[in-house]
Amino acid sequence: MAQNSSAGNPNSGASRREFLCTLGGIAGCAGLLPVATGCVTNLPGEFSDVKVKAAAGGTFEFKLSDPKFADLATVGKVVGVDAKPGLPIVLIRASTADIFAFSGLCPHANLQLAQLGAFDPATLQLTCLHQNSIFDKNGNVVSGPSPKGLTAYAVTFANGEGKVSL
Ligand code: FES
Repeated sequence: MAQNSSAGNPNSGASRREFLCTLGGIAGCAGLLPVATGCVTNLPGEFSDVKVKAAAGGTFEFKLSDPKFADLATVGKVVGVDAKPGLPIVLIRASTADIFAFSGLCPHANLQLAQLGAFDPATLQLTCLHQNSIFDKNGNVVSGPSPKGLTAYAVTFANGEGKVSL
């Protein structure tokens, strides 16, 4: 069963994210960092909170009616998914029509984007707030220290239900 371990825990992923978003916003206002404007504040407390067993063919399905994925009802929200052992991914509600799926570790220092990623629906860019690696909607590096892009996975999404092909 999915648990939101962030509830009431000041050291939770959500709290860390809120802190980083606040820090990023302050730095952005000061012109110090190219931070995303759509900072995400409602994420799973820990990356492994959402566990989904991928099918043998390398796919998994999700429904927004499932509380584990309810955040994806809101454009800009991100949900971390542990679909297979060693394969964390992030699902992002990019627009009313689209959900993106990317590999969940930023290649710069292998940190978890479910906790450090901020998605901007206006630019369709994902920023890793560690040192501001920015990725486009295809997972390509736009700027920052990441030596390579993210793997983008195909997602079909309609009527509140989706499928990710890994
Ligand atoms: S781990 Fe993402 S920028 Fe460093």
